[in-house]
Amino acid sequence: MKSTILTGIRANSELTLGNFLGALLPMVRLANTHSADSHINIFVPDLHSIISAVDGELQQNVIKSLKNYLAAGLTVNKNIHFYRQSRVPAHSELCWILNCVASMGELNRMTQYKDKSEGKDSVNVGIFDYPVLMAADILLYDAKYIPVGEDQFQHLELTRRLAERFNRKYNEIFTLPAEPKAQIEFMSTGGNDGIRIRDLQNPEKKMSKSNPAPNSKIMLSDEPTVAAKKIMSATTDSLGKIQYDMFNQPGISNLLQIEALTTDTPLQDVISTWAGETHYGDLKQKVAESVRVLLEDFQTKLAEISDQQILDLLESGEIYANEVANQKLHEAQVAFGLR
Ligand code: TRP
Repeated sequence: MKSTILTGIRANSELTLGNFLGALLPMVRLANTHSADSHINIFVPDLHSIISAVDGELQQNVIKSLKNYLAAGLTVNKNIHFYRQSRVPAHSELCWILNCVASMGELNRMTQYKDKSEGKDSVNVGIFDYPVLMAADILLYDAKYIPVGEDQFQHLELTRRLAERFNRKYNEIFTLPAEPKAQIEFMSTGGNDGIRIRDLQNPEKKMSKSNPAPNSKIMLSDEPTVAAKKIMSATTDSLGKIQYDMFNQPGISNLLQIEALTTDTPLQDVISTWAGETHYGDLKQKVAESVRVLLEDFQTKLAEISDQQILDLLESGEIYANEVANQKLHEAQVAFGLR
């Protein structure tokens, strides 16, 4: 049986260069590497989105987010499945069954829940139940690898625990996703793992879309020449040495990171190339050009993808997803005595 790699992408079409280089591009490369012999489920957890107010048009954002994958170079074949969570009702139904397996105590311990509910008078139940729906997303497809950030590892651990408990108590029907350590190894691309692109003006901080200062961040929708100018005006230091030293030279180190990721070169090689150089202007010019080329390529491809293309992919993906998910849901219902 083919194994399944599953990723849930938030319907968030406004991405920074940091999101793109740190999450989207690695996922696309992973999918392209494995799509000959694994199912690659790329789904939009739109039921998760509605735990809080959605900014913009949800449906339109779904389409835009999926377009980003194609524009980033995802090669579509019969093993790539795009779908919306809300169009596969088995997610909600398995979530309910798993609600009867999960305990209040273990959900109370989820750090994401604690963060989101802290200091609030009223918190909706969806926020509390978020990890159980996420477990259903994963278990319906016997997914083994789930490329997510470390902030989601606690949810993966919970998924494993719920599957184990269910299997022991009722029937062995769920495949446990790999442990976080194995997930990290699987996601490893060699050389450039875990790089976080920093704020161009305050390189001590992560680049963030919520920073209102336009020069602090590069958005994927930025005019490529404007983005290049932002690199040219990035904050550096007065040490006059090009080296990787995030503590003393976060600005220069950030530029080296951006160069590594945009040109798909191991960071160590970029560092060696620039070792001994002293002219920050030369480095900036090189990085600015790399970013400009990357954005231009991305935006050209993006403009060529129609909404209809995505809707067609969703249509076939949702047929596949419903088939697989309904089969697993049925097994869970039988195990629970519902059928
Ligand atoms: N919680 C994930 C995030 O915030 C999104 C998500 C929902 C997801 N369901 C999932 C990721 C299932 C992987 C698998 O990024």
